[in-house]
Amino acid sequence: GFDISKLLAQTGVTTLDPGFVNTASCTSAITFIDGDKGILQYRGYPIEQLAEKATFIEVAYLLIYGELPTQTQLDDFYGKISRRMMLDERLRELYRSFPRGAHPMQVLAAGVTALGAFHRDHLDVHNPEHVEESSLRLLGSMPTLAAYAYKSSIGAPFLYPQTKLGYVENYLRLSFGTPMEEYEIDPDVVRAFETLFILHADHEQNASTSTVRLVGSADANIYASMSSGVAALSGPLHGGANQAVLEMLREISAEGLNIKDFVAQVKDKKSGVKLMGFGHRVYKNYDPRAKIIKGHADTLLRGSDKNNHLLDMALELEQTALSDDYFIERKLYPNVDFYTGLIYEAMGFPASHFTALFALGRLPGWIAQWREQHADPNRKIGRPRQIYVGEKERDYLPINER
Ligand code: ACO
Repeated sequence: GFDISKLLAQTGVTTLDPGFVNTASCTSAITFIDGDKGILQYRGYPIEQLAEKATFIEVAYLLIYGELPTQTQLDDFYGKISRRMMLDERLRELYRSFPRGAHPMQVLAAGVTALGAFHRDHLDVHNPEHVEESSLRLLGSMPTLAAYAYKSSIGAPFLYPQTKLGYVENYLRLSFGTPMEEYEIDPDVVRAFETLFILHADHEQNASTSTVRLVGSADANIYASMSSGVAALSGPLHGGANQAVLEMLREISAEGLNIKDFVAQVKDKKSGVKLMGFGHRVYKNYDPRAKIIKGHADTLLRGSDKNNHLLDMALELEQTALSDDYFIERKLYPNVDFYTGLIYEAMGFPASHFTALFALGRLPGWIAQWREQHADPNRKIGRPRQIYVGEKERDYLPINER
């Protein structure tokens, strides 16, 4: 086919596009977004249907292999994942040595890189068996790593995974269970997590996924690529926004700020204050994920007095922003991170752990994107160009003459 980039390279033309606002870095058959209409589909399936009816593991299979699994395929897939949930004892030891209070995303990124060191016999990116093995290993072990990052941050003992439990059940038990007593699993919390993980599972070429692909394009091993995805996701402009939203709500509440005054602060660019959880590079309409999560937040949090106050504030913030010209003109709507933190908090997670939950949800998307990239016979190392704006050539001066 016609290759515009080759043609431009021959003519010596370089396009400058900071933040890649208009530049596609790849073709992909995984996720479709129509940002103007607020549409999101995984492999052609509307996100609304998947969020309501599917399980997270079914969606992971869909993203990675391209089709929904049969029951036999699903059982086989989950069986393989659950047999890879146990970490090497030395990796557990490594987790014990992080300081209390360490941010779970830093610990998780280190853990994912280290996982590659413990499974170094499957690192050949050109060997399909290795790629399959390490994909399953990551899906199995990352919830364990995330739960241990949390346990380690509070100095609590680590539990071993249980293969008889479902993916979400096992993760919740690893996070909140104790060695002293049986952990009781709440089916409503499990279903909410299935939905939240599904909503986070892929979002085409966002900052973390593009990072995964860029690292992958150099043929770095899959663990290194996933770990770089965790690192990119940790930023507050990306996945870290879910933590930032809750902190923002708490701050408004603690300072007794009026919502209208806070919005006025946001509109005053000099203040440097942003409405966290609002705005998106691609969605210029209501983020379909936020719409689904908002519904869940309303149902899940109404029973608990403790969180009603923050939810009410969030709803008022949204309403105030959506009827304000500043937000209307710029097409700024709530994104996926606006309501998730309230739900995670109600489930007992501290704000610092929210982004690790996002990472667990996003993992199948990163894996699917990495594999799609490596299956492309025309793939190339990612190597953006630049426009040099520095000094012209000049002569070196000995230090005593400067
Ligand atoms: N609060 C106030 N103003 C905003 C916000 C916000 N949250 N988001 C965008 N704007 C303004 C910008 O200042 C800009 O105004 P201008 O045209 O007067 O200069 C205009 O809206 C366009 O915004 P950009 O920053 O150019 O949009 P961009 O696509 O580069 O950034 C981003 C998108 C990073 C998500 C931005 O909206 C933001 O910082 N939001 C808050 C952080 C957040 O919630 N991140 C999570 C994103 S979703 C995710 O990663 C899962």
